[in-house]
Amino acid sequence: MRSLGERVTKSMHQQDGLRRPADMQSTPRHIAIIMDGNGRWAAARGLPRAEGHRRGVEAVRACVRAAGELGVEHLTLFSFSSENWRRPLEEINDLMGLLRRFIRRDLAELHEQDVRVRVIGAPDGVPDDIRKLIAEAVALTRDNGGLRLTVAFNYGARDEIVRAARKLARQAVAGEMDAGSIDEAAFGAALDTAGLPDPDLLIRTSGEMRISNFLLWQCAYAEMVFADAYWPDFDKDALIACINEYQTRERRFGGLSARYSA
Ligand code: IPE
Ligand code: IPE
Ligand code: MG
Repeated sequence: MRSLGERVTKSMHQQDGLRRPADMQSTPRHIAIIMDGNGRWAAARGLPRAEGHRRGVEAVRACVRAAGELGVEHLTLFSFSSENWRRPLEEINDLMGLLRRFIRRDLAELHEQDVRVRVIGAPDGVPDDIRKLIAEAVALTRDNGGLRLTVAFNYGARDEIVRAARKLARQAVAGEMDAGSIDEAAFGAALDTAGLPDPDLLIRTSGEMRISNFLLWQCAYAEMVFADAYWPDFDKDALIACINEYQTRERRFGGLSARYSA
């Protein structure tokens, strides 16, 4: 029997013209995106940064829809980092306002699209009303079986790792488990992303080539694709181009190339 990935790729191939010769990777099961370049998109047009963020939300809508149509199982979007609090208060307020509006306006449609929403990041510092909205979105969509959308909000990977270490240390000190039993699986299960498969493909837009504290543990073997487009210009075709690039990569996970095991 063919795997879900292979079946999905076959239907994508038929519907969307995605390339997949026999020796190529199948569709990435989990795509993570660092959505970057809203400010530069706006500056290039003489517009305020807030307008770039507003257009960025439209790109989020399009990308979620496209990922669902392409049969991607997991999409994880970096929407606000634990370091983004360093920005001017006015911009932070704009970003918080956009998240509020996004949840209020788009939740029903996401639910209709069978999307299941999850949020990762530190709850501390998030305004109470946003925490409530997030809880509502998670509760409403918890039984949906379509695209699994994870929004990284107030998220920093080092912070996530430190919180996981603290949680495990507390359990060990309380005698709930033996510190010697902590292995990679136990540590992964203490992270915000517990239960999610690792990203297969990490995309960053805007031409920047850095991780900026995103999913440091989980991206150990992710394939990285850096797209030049600023986030507001990233559309379904751009996503397909990134997937096509991913499909040309050979993933070795520290082993040997398949051509040695003929
Ligand atoms: C990404 O766009 C959105 C967030 C980080 C919240 P930026 O706001 O970082 O845009 P640039 O990088 O300044 O162009
Ligand atoms: C990363 O982008 C965070 C998000 C996309 C939410 P930044 O724009 O904050 O990253 P740096 O500061 O350029 O590394
Ligand atoms: Mg940026």
